[in-house]
Amino acid sequence: MRVLGIETSCDETGLAIFDTESGLLGQVLYSQIDLHADYGGVVPELASRDHIRKIKPLTDELLRQCALKLTDLDGIAYTAGPGLMGALLVGATFARSLAWSLTLPAIEVHHMEAHLLAPLIAADADLPELPFIALLVSGGHTQLVQVDTVGDYTILGESVDDAAGEAFDKVAKMLGLNYPGGPAIAKAALAGDATRFTFPRPMTDRPGLDFSFSGLKTHSLNTVKANQPLSSQDIADISLAFEHAVVETLFIKCRRAIEQTAIPRIIMAGGVSANTKLRAKLASDLNAAVFYPPPEFCTDNGAMIAYAGALRLARGERAPLEINTRARWPMDELAN
Ligand code: KG4
Ligand code: ZN
Repeated sequence: MRVLGIETSCDETGLAIFDTESGLLGQVLYSQIDLHADYGGVVPELASRDHIRKIKPLTDELLRQCALKLTDLDGIAYTAGPGLMGALLVGATFARSLAWSLTLPAIEVHHMEAHLLAPLIAADADLPELPFIALLVSGGHTQLVQVDTVGDYTILGESVDDAAGEAFDKVAKMLGLNYPGGPAIAKAALAGDATRFTFPRPMTDRPGLDFSFSGLKTHSLNTVKANQPLSSQDIADISLAFEHAVVETLFIKCRRAIEQTAIPRIIMAGGVSANTKLRAKLASDLNAAVFYPPPEFCTDNGAMIAYAGALRLARGERAPLEINTRARWPMDELAN
């Protein structure tokens, strides 16, 4: 079964075709980073308009790349949430219109489920046994999830305020670094002096698996204000202290989740899982098998939507008649 996947939940227009027999056939990705860079974050209305502009030409490009025609497809999957409502609607209406005109089945995909399954896309992927723990860390979410089977998710803990990626983006803005903040901070931190600042590890001194990143953001802001004007060394040192605090906090909570559930397998996914220090820390210091997607599947992409959609279509699931996009969509409400 060949499934076209369409991702438009935020600032990436991503399309891919996944074949349940032969794997990923091709993918295209257009990032709106330059469009939003001047604003230090995604501007929802600009994002929706740019998805409209790009979605059709990217579909044509993908079909050319795969040497396929629309009539070679067997199903269409699209991100139905969570995400920016206007941006989601572009992908959803395009996907549903296409499916309608081609008489193909369509399926709604939960963006975070797609992130979670992304480590499994590659045909030669080393698969964790079920159940496993997933650390989902993106611009919109920071969650620890127990995965009992595909579709059966229990949220063990989540951020009570900002997501980790959002904190990266906001602190980068304070430091005058580019959007997206995660890669910019990671790069600046390379020249940092680890002995200069120690930032707090929020919510690690009390029990539980929830996260909070807003205090760390305020601490960063206070440090920025106390060191004006910022030299490039100040920027590097603050970047390193911030990055280190986020990595340690995520690590401590992952270790706690593994101890609490006695499940020694963890998948990490979402944009922040591209962070090399986070990968290295979990891989070396967690008493567990750690799985993560290749960097291209960490941040938003169409391949993960095609893959997650193909799994659900193959099980006979279909989107309901109405187009139901959801800005918020708790993952434990998903049907399994
Ligand atoms: O999953 P994603 O592409 O989009 C959402 O679903 O939100 O995640 C984007 C987030 C951004 O906040 C970005 O700053 C962060 O992932 N990110 C990183 C890195 N690469 C991307 N954060 C830390 N280190 C990175 N290398
Ligand atoms: Zn995402």
